[in-house]
Amino acid sequence: MSNYIPRNFLVTGGAGFIGSNFVNYLLKAHPDAIVVVLDALTYAGNLESLNSVISSSKLQFVHGDIRDYNLVRNLLHDKSIDTLVNFAAESHVDRSIAGPDAFINTNIIGTHTLLKAAKSVWLDKSGGPVSHRFHHVSTDEVYGSLGIEDPAFTEVTPYSPNSPYAASKAASDHLVRAYHHTYGLQVTTSNCSNNYGPYQFPEKLIPLLIVNILYGKPLPVYGDGLNIRDWLYVEDHCRGIDIILKKGRIGETYNIGGDNEWTNINIVKLVCDLIDKAFENSNSLKERFPKAPAAVEKRSDTLIQYVEDRPGHDRRYAINSEKISAELGFCSNTLFETGIKKTIDWYLENESWWRNIIDGSYRESAAT
Ligand code: NAD
Ligand code: DAU
Repeated sequence: MSNYIPRNFLVTGGAGFIGSNFVNYLLKAHPDAIVVVLDALTYAGNLESLNSVISSSKLQFVHGDIRDYNLVRNLLHDKSIDTLVNFAAESHVDRSIAGPDAFINTNIIGTHTLLKAAKSVWLDKSGGPVSHRFHHVSTDEVYGSLGIEDPAFTEVTPYSPNSPYAASKAASDHLVRAYHHTYGLQVTTSNCSNNYGPYQFPEKLIPLLIVNILYGKPLPVYGDGLNIRDWLYVEDHCRGIDIILKKGRIGETYNIGGDNEWTNINIVKLVCDLIDKAFENSNSLKERFPKAPAAVEKRSDTLIQYVEDRPGHDRRYAINSEKISAELGFCSNTLFETGIKKTIDWYLENESWWRNIIDGSYRESAAT
């Protein structure tokens, strides 16, 4: 099994934010690859995020659930998949607080179903094990919360998940680890910090801010706004996963981060400033988004509203990326100033993508 070369990919959750960016990246970085996307198209999945590649002969989209054992098993077998990259998940912390069941079902049971199917097709075959890789995409939230002076998370930081989302991801990470240790499944796992970039569902902080500013809606800042996150441009995350697939050691986990810590309130102010600047010399933006404060020469930060804190809100995440940097030569290469401008420009240029998601009800409430 040592001659592994990634050729035929199954990308689960490939119609979501990071998954769709990964598919777009993959088809450029691996022109010979065959990519099958398996996605249940939950509220967070969006086929339009794959628009630029959907007609490629290299890509096949399958609408289905990662908990469907027979479907996953048949795909792995029939499409001669050698590489499974698992992005499929319920991913929003606030939703996990309001309703944890979907997180348990998809993140834990779904990941376990993928592992069982992979074991069956790749390890239990009559002709002996075939060359393969199971890469699991996880989060820094499994490590819990840091104090302001604490050192950043390393791969040996004990797991201490605080939200139902983080706990479900931690459980899935443990299952992946167990399938390697017990059965010899060839796994790698990455634990990444907060991603930002194109195609992110506008319930997450950065796209929510952009869209709310354009509609002149309040910008909700949880608690005192001083919680800290590390932010990584999504394309860097995709490249990091690709490097792990090519060079990562089997059974290992790798942290991926941007070395880029920001308090939430400073992110909010930055996005406000950048949108104000974009409007300064653009009559077209003023006409397209008349409810935005900058359309009437007001500042976007007048929309900031401090609101009740998220229950159990983790104070700080920070990633120590030394392992992936020293072992695999990976570092993030998108400066935050560049990445955040690219992201805002993308949302300004792709209004139909997020308008279709947000739908009429949001626009009606935005108008009140
Ligand atoms: P997302 O919510 O944007 O997308 C999730 C995708 O999974 C959607 O397309 C959805 O339709 C699909 N899906 C959900 N349940 C499914 C099921 N049962 N079967 C098949 N498909 C299903 O999520 P994202 O932000 O792109 O995150 C992708 C992965 O990366 C997740 O595992 C998440 O935990 C992890 N992660 C995210 C971030 C981040 O900042 N967004 C950071 C680190 C790790
Ligand atoms: O750290 C990686 C994680 O990053 C991923 O595993 C998750 O899938 C992803 O959603 C993200 O989790 P966060 O909870 O950090 O992301 P979110 O965008 O929801 O919130 C970022 C910070 O902003 C967090 O401290 C909460 C705060 N926030 C968020 C929203 C949506 C606000 O202050 N107001 C808001 O309206």
